Parts: sequence; structure tokens; C-alpha cells
Amino acid sequence: MHPSDSCMNLWRRLWKYLLIAVVLYATVFLNIDRIRTFSTESSLVQVIETPPHPNWSQNTTYSAQFKDQRHSYQFVTIPKKQCSNNTKLQITILSTAGNFEIRQAIRDTWANPNNSKHVENNDIRISFIISAAQNEFLNSSIQKEIEKYDDLIVTDLYESYELLILKVHAILTYKQNFCESADFQLKIDDDMAVYMEGLYDSLSEKKQSSVDAISGIIWRNSPPVREKKHRWYVPMTLYSQKHFPPYIDGPIYLIGKNVIPKMLDATKNYSQWIIEDVFWTGILAKALQIRQINWANHLLRYVIELVPSRLKCLNGKPLIYAVHNMKGPQMIIDGYNKLTGVKCQ
Ligand SMILES: *[C@@H]1O[C@H](CO)[C@@H](O)[C@H](O)[C@H]1NC(C)=O
Ligand SMILES: *[C@@H]1O[C@H](CO)[C@@H](O)[C@H](O)[C@H]1NC(C)=O
Ligand SMILES: *[C@@H]1O[C@H](CO)[C@@H](O)[C@H](O)[C@H]1NC(C)=O
Ligand SMILES: *[C@@H]1O[C@H](CO)[C@@H](O)[C@H](O)[C@H]1NC(C)=O
Ligand SMILES: *[C@@H]1O[C@H](CO)[C@@H](O)[C@H](O)[C@H]1NC(C)=O
Ligand SMILES: *[C@@H]1O[C@H](CO)[C@@H](O)[C@H](O)[C@H]1NC(C)=O
Repeated sequence: MHPSDSCMNLWRRLWKYLLIAVVLYATVFLNIDRIRTFSTESSLVQVIETPPHPNWSQNTTYSAQFKDQRHSYQFVTIPKKQCSNNTKLQITILSTAGNFEIRQAIRDTWANPNNSKHVENNDIRISFIISAAQNEFLNSSIQKEIEKYDDLIVTDLYESYELLILKVHAILTYKQNFCESADFQLKIDDDMAVYMEGLYDSLSEKKQSSVDAISGIIWRNSPPVREKKHRWYVPMTLYSQKHFPPYIDGPIYLIGKNVIPKMLDATKNYSQWIIEDVFWTGILAKALQIRQINWANHLLRYVIELVPSRLKCLNGKPLIYAVHNMKGPQMIIDGYNKLTGVKCQ
């Protein structure tokens, strides 16, 4: 065999690999290029944006002042679409950064403008409130979610059960600063399904709601837990009486616009609690003599209650506004379909 023959053979074999290498290189190069353009584009968009609301700046610091503690926080992001002067109800859904699929199920069902004319024309303004992402991967996913759906309020509060009370502070502060004219604020957790038209109609019924009241499921005569290791432990030094004042169940409550500034002002007279609903809707409501309206007939607490005997009608309309304890996206969708599927004459 001649040396130049083997050289030719080598080339014949090598050109395939060379081609593959070129294609691979081009693919990688193009993608890197695309990734680069994508990230510069998105940061450019952020710089030239006008603020979504005249009261908003990333640097504005809000303060939650209690008798024994004080916390400062900021709204890192707020939706561009804000309340309008026809907005009657602002709904803020308590969520956590990682709950992407749950938020999507809510967007697809009860928060979907296609399913409610009141959501569509901004009579109802809905957003989620979360704490800033704790890692880069989550951060970039949330950044994309913000660009796509524009329905996240992001605070720099630390995410923990013990600090839920601050998240509610942020909900009320947000209402005061960015949606002051709306008559009602609904605080709701992200494990609920809602029949939106029923909820909205209740806002114009005096027996169901008032701008001077809080509505929801009222708990009476609940005793504080005194076992130190329990999640809901209440030290005697914080609250010494045998029973809590009547308070409203945390997963869903409606607050009238007139009582919100009073509640925010009153916190400074009280030590910081862990149990968010007892504090905001019980302790403060009692001190400020805020009326409580019972929605126990209109709310379900468990999936097993989604049965015809509970899904009744009243005056030709479905009785139930919402159901709690929907574990995961599919349950939210099923719960929503059941609540809205009730046929009344
Ligand atoms: C916000 O604060 C940062 C850091 O303190 C500062 O660099 C920036 O100029 C401030 N922006 C505004 C609009 O005040
Ligand atoms: C609502 O706001 C628009 C635009 O700012 C204004 O033109 C209109 O008069 C307002 N309507 C009411 C009822 O206040
Ligand atoms: C509403 O319906 C339109 C038309 O079918 C659809 O393109 C859009 O994605 C829907 N919006 C939502 C939020 O589901
Ligand atoms: C993501 O990180 C950037 C930079 O630290 C921060 O400004 C932004 O608020 C974060 N976004 C979210 C949604 O956590
Ligand atoms: C700005 O916030 C203040 C309360 O801090 C509120 O009284 C005022 O109505 C808000 N302005 C707008 C345009 O919503
Ligand atoms: C808070 O305490 C001060 C001083 O004792 C009192 O004047 C004020 O009425 C209290 N406010 C509330 C809302 O409890």
C-alpha cells in the first residue's frame, strides 16, 4: 500500500466527522447567540419601561410596625395592569414562588377573563402575591412568568409560615397604595376554587358584605394552643384569655375598604403574632369594633363537600362561592367545574 493511499483513506473517513463537528459548532454557536439576544432584550425592556403605577418605585420601603418588632419590605415587582376606576374587588392570591402549576390552574379556571365578564372588564382585578425567589433557577422561571402573565406581586419578604402575618400586611398595604378606590379586598389562598360570579354578586348584597366589615367563615370560642412545640402555640404573655375573639377562617376573607387603613394603623399597638387570621380578623377586628359577616353557608372547606346535597341553590343562584383544600392543579380544575356546574332555575 502506498502512503498517499492511506492518507486518502484517512481523509475519506475524517470528512464525515469534520462535517458533524461543523454542524455541532454552528448549532451551539447559534443557540448561544440566541440566548444572548434573549437576555439583553429582556433587560432592555425592563430599563425603558414606565412605572406601572405612579405610587410605585422598586425602592419604596414599607414598614410593618408591631409593638415589639418592625419589618421593612419592598414590592420588587407589581403587575403593569392595575386597578381601574371601575374596579370594585381586588383579589390577591397568596402563593409561593414554586407553585407554577397551581397558579396556571387558577388562571385557566376561576381567574380566567374568558370565564367571567367581571374579570374581563377589570371589575375584579386578580393577582398572586409571592416572595422573591430564593435561587437563580426559580428566579428566571418567575421572571418569564411575569413577562407572560403580568399577574405577580413580588415582595422581598422572607417566605415562612411564621411570617404569613407580614404577607397579609403586604396585601393590605398594596391595596391602600395601588388600588385604594376598590370597595373590597379579598385575601385568598392558592388552594381554593371559586365561583366568581357568585362571589361578585355578594358584594352588592348588604347581608353579605360591607365596606365597613370583614366576611368569611367565623370561628367562635376557639381556645389558644398552649403546647410549646405546636405550630399554633400562643404564649400567655402574648394572649392570656381562654378563648380567641371571634375571628375569620384564614383561607378566604373579604375586607371592606374602610377598615383596611385602620387595621394597618392598629398593628403598632400589638405584639407580632404567628397566627395570621386570628390576629388580623380577630384581635384587630375586636379592638377596632369591625363587624364580621358569616359566610359559613357559602363556603365549603373540603373536597368531600362537593356533593349535590351541599351544592344547592338559593333564590335561583348557586349558594356556594368557593371551596378550600384543593390539593394540586387537577383538584382546582375539578372543584371549579363542580361549583360552576350547579344548575339553578
Ligand atoms: C434605588 O436604590 C438603588 C440602590 O440603593 C440605587 O442605585 C438606585 O438609584 C435607586 N433608584 C431610584 C429610582 O431611586
Ligand atoms: C375613570 O377614569 C377615566 C380615565 O382616567 C376617566 O376619564 C373617567 O372619567 C373616570 N370615570 C369615573 C367614573 O371616575
Ligand atoms: C381566552 O379565549 C381565547 C380565544 O379562545 C384564547 O385565545 C385565550 O388564550 C383565552 N384566554 C385564557 C386566559 O385562557
Ligand atoms: C431575580 O433576581 C434579580 C437580581 O437579584 C432581582 O432583581 C429580581 O427581583 C429577582 N426576581 C424574582 C422574581 O425573584
Ligand atoms: C398612593 O398611595 C396613597 C396612600 O399611601 C393613596 O392615598 C393614594 O390614593 C395612592 N395614589 C394612587 C394614584 O392610587
Ligand atoms: C393605640 O394605642 C394608643 C396609645 O395607647 C391609643 O391612643 C390608640 O387609640 C390605640 N389605637 C388602636 C387602633 O388601638
